[in-house]
Amino acid sequence: MELDNQRPVILLVDDEEMVLNALSRVLANSEWDVLVADSGAQALEIMARRPIALIISDQRMPEMNGLELLNAVKKEYPDTVRIIMTGYAEMDVVVKAINQGEVYRFFTKPWNSSELLETIREVLQKQSESYGRISSYSDQLARANLETVMALAEAIELKDHYTKGHCSRVRDYSLRMAMALNLSEDFCRDLVYASLLHDCGKIGVSETILNINGPLNDEQYREVQRHPVLGFEITCKIDYLRPASIIIRQHHERWDGAGYPDHLQALEISLGARIVAVADSFDAMTSSRPYRRAFDFKYAIQELLDNRGSQFDPELVDLFVSLLEQEVKESEKFKDHLRLLLVGVTPEKIAELENSLPAARYELIAVDSLAQARARLDEVDMIICVLQLVDGEGAAFLADCRQLHPQIIRIMLIERQDMENLAETVNNAGLYAFMIRPLRPAEVQALVENAFEWRRMAQALHL
Ligand SMILES: [Fe+2]
Repeated sequence: MELDNQRPVILLVDDEEMVLNALSRVLANSEWDVLVADSGAQALEIMARRPIALIISDQRMPEMNGLELLNAVKKEYPDTVRIIMTGYAEMDVVVKAINQGEVYRFFTKPWNSSELLETIREVLQKQSESYGRISSYSDQLARANLETVMALAEAIELKDHYTKGHCSRVRDYSLRMAMALNLSEDFCRDLVYASLLHDCGKIGVSETILNINGPLNDEQYREVQRHPVLGFEITCKIDYLRPASIIIRQHHERWDGAGYPDHLQALEISLGARIVAVADSFDAMTSSRPYRRAFDFKYAIQELLDNRGSQFDPELVDLFVSLLEQEVKESEKFKDHLRLLLVGVTPEKIAELENSLPAARYELIAVDSLAQARARLDEVDMIICVLQLVDGEGAAFLADCRQLHPQIIRIMLIERQDMENLAETVNNAGLYAFMIRPLRPAEVQALVENAFEWRRMAQALHL
């Protein structure tokens, strides 16, 4: 491949050709050049010949695995940014990689293309900035601290599948309250660390218990209740996390003293912990859990109000509810209720999707045939379609939709054994994404939300 010396080079390493092809397609543009290697040894050979700005490696490869490769890269080429791709189950690999400073970011397969592109742009941008400008030491340190905290928060979410996105939502809710209360910048910074890491003690709780599909027995509940103290013990040893560690320890205390671990009450509980308690409970109620669908906002607000003065600081509940009500009023002005057309999707998979997508926002319309689907095209925002229908091929139908209704987002739901035909299907039908079973609620929701976000952006840019 001819390379332009001015452009940064990204090296992709995977032993599966199909993955390399798919990733190369995602990254094909004019901002950078892409090289591929099918093994760690080949990657190191390439790196010996030319500078590489960014390397993205698969973890599972024969002979040299991804971490071994990135470790070698770290020693030989410390300026190369390292990203690892792992399967969902390889939590220990991710934690090890972050702890050893071996990787900048990790992605799970299947990856989210827009997130991947955004990260690469951000990394390369940062890299070129750091060459051109020496920012102050404290700036760098603050950024490094926040990056470490965010990486750790992502690692925790990876362990507890059903909490993806939870930490950053708790951070947003908490910050909104702190800002409405005009609290200091230092307080807000510690609150950000604490809200992102409030459940970091779950790293010491068995994954089986965290992912139990139903209510817990007493022993399991006691095990989960250890997480505030475990989180405190992890964070209090780190200088810049010491103020946050108090909030982490107290985030399950209750206003009436019936919480844990120290049975503090009312103003004995730090303000940060009282704020995080409200934000955490509200987000837990409004996102899906393995054993129940998300409650809608009205119900969750009522729950907060019913527990003001018992579980929660009453003044904070009033403040939070008024902030939310303001927001609901704003969003109702351009309320978007989104309709998803499920074509040929089995009842079992429909149930999985229902569990993943909040009912207040997404309406699911299921049909069995392409004929029925065609009759509903005027009223839907997204199509999720299987490969084979009673009256034709899903891919051909999606290709037609692309011509006739380009604004409808097209997603194909496929089985693992259909992977081989995937590239062709993606190209012909102009899909936004594909989903492969088993469907994980948090991933489904993130994918659907990203798709609509992408469409909003595309519309704004008149693409
Ligand atoms: Fe917690």
